[in-house]
Amino acid sequence: MKMQFTYNIFLIGFMGSGKSTVADYLCEKFDMDVVEMDQVIAERERMSISDIFEKHGELYFRDLETKLLVELQEKTNTVVSCGGGAAMRECNVTEMKKNGKVVLLTAKPETILERVENNHDRPLLENNKTVAYIAELMEKRREKYEAAADMIIETDGKSAQKICEEMIQRLGEQ
Ligand code: S3P
Repeated sequence: MKMQFTYNIFLIGFMGSGKSTVADYLCEKFDMDVVEMDQVIAERERMSISDIFEKHGELYFRDLETKLLVELQEKTNTVVSCGGGAAMRECNVTEMKKNGKVVLLTAKPETILERVENNHDRPLLENNKTVAYIAELMEKRREKYEAAADMIIETDGKSAQKICEEMIQRLGEQ
């Protein structure tokens, strides 16, 4: 019998911090459902994230994120891989915390750059793929990320398995 969670786990953090990889691993290891926020939004809009930003603007996308997080309140035993900007709105974090633990994944800007280099569906990073840009945006977001987090896990040099083991152990201690 695989373990079931009575709550949800919200993975937050910068683009390329490993949220999707960790979410997939958790889903495989435990009997959890996975919600990849960007994927759900792109499917609903029938458009890539880049096209949503280009055609409707960032605010439109941010409102879709908020709406989806409210809907997710109906779920349990679900791991939610949040878009990197989702924890910037206080009301989003309030939704996450209603029935979830918020786990912040962090990585050094150099690690992030390596992970996102070949991806072209991150409009905020397109044409901005430098360590300096990533470090600056990360620093701007740091306070809100940390305030939202029930737990912070550094991911540099760690496998998905190691990150998940650390998370499960610490969730058990909380
Ligand atoms: C964003 C992160 C992306 C996506 C959008 C905006 C951000 O998600 O939601 O491009 O503001 O950090 P990932 O963190 O899954 O790449």
